[in-house]
Amino acid sequence: PRRLRVAVAGLGVIGEGAALELAKQTKPYGLCAALVRDPGKARAQELENLRTYSDPAVMLVEHPDVIVDALPSGEVGRWLIEAALSKGVSIVTANKQAIAGSLALLHKYAHDHGAVLSYSPSVGGGAPMVETVRKAREEGSPREIRAILNGTVNYILSAMKNGASFTNAVISAQEAGFAEPDPTADLSGEDARAKISILTYEAFGHEIDLDAIEVEPLSAEKAGQFVKSGGVWKQIAHVVKSQDGQTKAKVSFERVDEDPLFSKTEKEGNALRVTCTDGRALTCSGKGAGRAPTVSSIFADLERVAVKLTALEAEHAKNALRRGRTFS
Ligand code: HSE
Repeated sequence: PRRLRVAVAGLGVIGEGAALELAKQTKPYGLCAALVRDPGKARAQELENLRTYSDPAVMLVEHPDVIVDALPSGEVGRWLIEAALSKGVSIVTANKQAIAGSLALLHKYAHDHGAVLSYSPSVGGGAPMVETVRKAREEGSPREIRAILNGTVNYILSAMKNGASFTNAVISAQEAGFAEPDPTADLSGEDARAKISILTYEAFGHEIDLDAIEVEPLSAEKAGQFVKSGGVWKQIAHVVKSQDGQTKAKVSFERVDEDPLFSKTEKEGNALRVTCTDGRALTCSGKGAGRAPTVSSIFADLERVAVKLTALEAEHAKNALRRGRTFS
């Protein structure tokens, strides 16, 4: 595949990690622009040739092949993804709120404009959850997904089991770069809601109404009760398609002592089990949050985008040649 011009939107824990890797230029990608909220902010490392903007639209002026969306805002991310795809610029996104509930439409934009939309980093950090669910769909007929999808909540429950207070556990999750810039979305269950809606699309090929997904928030009191009970409690995101074709999803806390996969998923770990109608199950697990695993997922997606763009360009050239022959 050819060398890709990559722009990074958002230089937080994930975006900065991706930009620093890209700036090393050890990979077949070049960093052409970055979008940051505060250009004046002191950064751990100065990024050479890094230009900063305050208006998302100017990112497109740099003619990137791909934009890596690591923005904290679902709204700005959604705007940028739509604008980029409509101009044929491909997207790799870690911004689940930006794509949740809109994948069908965004895939259509990508298809119509010869771009690629890739979003494995938005679910499961370094664990290939989107790929696992896609595989289940390719090989069979998924019926149900159960998964631990929020690293922060899992980390808090694990830390409290080991004696930490709720407040200190939240602070450590923020310091470790697991929590969202505003951890409300982690604690309220909204983060897991966006992720299970993305997996629902991968499993069943249709959207689910986000508002119809019930979520159970985590409070200090509730977490304390879980620890006191002595059992293993996890936040489980769940979606099931019934025989009459109805899809129902929820995010709630469950005691999983007997479950060999979920009970052993500690700290910021994420885990998933997708069960097919024939009873077969596919599982995957890994580090669900944090810079290193998510950045590695971004690079895996960049590679996929590079391969797909090369194939799309070859197809385009072949079609152009065919058209030329027809008219000559
Ligand atoms: N805040 C998210 C989590 C980051 O804790 O799972 C990864 O999406």
